[in-house]
Amino acid sequence: MREHRPSFTAAFVAACRGLTPMLPRAARLIDDPLGLRFAGPQLAPVAAAMLEARGPARVAAQVALLPVLPWIVYMQVRTRAIDEALLAFVAGGGTQVVILGAGFDTRAVRLAPRLGGVRVIEVDHPATQRRKDDELAAAGVDPGAAHLAWDFEVDALSALPARLGTLGLDPSRPTFTIWEGVTMYLTPAAIDATVAAIAQYSAPGSQLAFNYVRKDLVDRPNPLAAAAALVVRAVGEPFRTGFDPATLPAWLSVRGFRLLRDDDFEALATRWLPPGWARVLRRGRRLIVVERTAVAERAG
Ligand SMILES: C[S@@+](CC[C@H](N)C(=O)[O-])C[C@H]1O[C@@H](n2cnc3c(N)ncnc32)[C@H](O)[C@@H]1O
Repeated sequence: MREHRPSFTAAFVAACRGLTPMLPRAARLIDDPLGLRFAGPQLAPVAAAMLEARGPARVAAQVALLPVLPWIVYMQVRTRAIDEALLAFVAGGGTQVVILGAGFDTRAVRLAPRLGGVRVIEVDHPATQRRKDDELAAAGVDPGAAHLAWDFEVDALSALPARLGTLGLDPSRPTFTIWEGVTMYLTPAAIDATVAAIAQYSAPGSQLAFNYVRKDLVDRPNPLAAAAALVVRAVGEPFRTGFDPATLPAWLSVRGFRLLRDDDFEALATRWLPPGWARVLRRGRRLIVVERTAVAERAG
């Protein structure tokens, strides 16, 4: 991670969410009108023009986007899965949310009407947070969240719960923690320390939602996973850690969490997208997006 520079991967996934309107209506699972603002000064205007195109220009734009279509579809599924878990937590009376490695996640804005007065605290590198603040200010949008600058690899995670407390997090009440698109970029030591910190500030009944890459595909990537790994390494955000779904429940259990569910993306895509659309996530016989989404609950 190059901490003086806003995260490239955060910009990429935000832009993919922003391209949602390029999908047929039935394949849209989320709506993130601010996402494209983070695509950068060169790409954002091009993408905005694509959204506005109609008729043959629209078809041409959709053809031009074919190489990134799997990623646009993937972000529908990944972000929707976590949105649903979050909204269920809030519907059950939850009032505080921590988003770790928030990047350009605009949930606090997108879901504001449904989050009501829920307290949202976003944690990330300062360079990424500055860029987010600037873009939201330029759009005239209230970020809807407090920001805390933190490097999970450098700053002592044992100090995180107290710092969150200074921003209004109450450890006696349940918290929903989102760790979307982050675990694969952290070292096992940073992951361990982060989960220990989450456990410390999470009252019983709190939940943790995160997605992860399967460990075997980080350790021994197939050609598609290897290509993705090369790209993220080139931008300074290499894949570092994966989880084994078979051992995840025990791994979480010793850290004070009980696994509620662990869904693979293709199954979610098959459930939520129109017939045939889950196949977009495949190239040849390989699943492009090999991630899973887990939701765990803090045990009492
Ligand atoms: C793929 S982006 C995901 C962003 C956001 N959660 C989303 O899904 O749109 C990965 C995020 O993890 C953050 N991140 C990676 N390593 C980090 C570290 N050591 N400390 C703080 N943030 C980190 C990056 O800054 C980036 O925002």
